Amino acid sequence: MPQILVRIPRCSLLSTVVWQVSSRTDTRSLHFVLAGTYIIHGIAGDCEAVAESRGVQRIAANGGSVPLSGSIPELAEKAKNCRNCDLWRNATQTVFGEGGSRPRIMFIGEQPGNEEDKEGKPFVGPAGRLLDRLLVEAGVDRKKVYVTNAVKHFKWEPRGKRRIHKKPSAREIDACRPWLDAEIAEIKPAVIVCLGATAAQAILGRTFRVTQHRGEFIESPLAVHVMATVHPSAILRAPDEKTRHEQEREFVRDMGQIAKLKL
Ligand code: URA
Repeated sequence: MPQILVRIPRCSLLSTVVWQVSSRTDTRSLHFVLAGTYIIHGIAGDCEAVAESRGVQRIAANGGSVPLSGSIPELAEKAKNCRNCDLWRNATQTVFGEGGSRPRIMFIGEQPGNEEDKEGKPFVGPAGRLLDRLLVEAGVDRKKVYVTNAVKHFKWEPRGKRRIHKKPSAREIDACRPWLDAEIAEIKPAVIVCLGATAAQAILGRTFRVTQHRGEFIESPLAVHVMATVHPSAILRAPDEKTRHEQEREFVRDMGQIAKLKL
């Protein structure tokens, strides 16, 4: 079961909120909750709005907070002002996830790149174009796909006039994590595909190695089917044409398993 860290800012009457609190396995209706920080395993869907109106927030490992729930457009709107880490300072804008009207498959990348940062949309640059082409080849229905990133701001360093991608730190990934959790809670994907090590380690733990387990379905509380594979950017960096074709074939083979699922 996923664990959500929440903060209740003041003693709250939460009579309709059903919590599975901490290690207790019973689902209980708590009538009055003391202000404080709780680990919970979920809130019954229709009770989220009540909890939110009482100021309950998800909190990140670094203490930053995000709303407990919301539709994707609502979350995206609130994420525009996220200051949970410092990456917003050098980025053009927050790049939130987006995708099909009733998505069943969530792809998680690392962070927006240069083009995504300027356009404000995920996977619209070279890696996104390659992803789109390989999904078509694999037979994955793009209408069922929601794309997002582990980190919602572009982290970069200057090299001459260019902005060069810089890997986000564990702290920055942790700071952004509640947004990802909120997206997962809202979309409830049947399938999560982690693209590359950053997403895989955010979702499957820091010891997970894409090189050892790519294309395998991994048990996770977050979705029925969870898989990690290489990031399309890594394919774009292949040293020669032959290697790139080989890597594309392997990626399509991984995605073929997703295409076969009954979703
Ligand atoms: N790489 C990512 O991980 N995400 C994007 O949105 C674009 C490139």
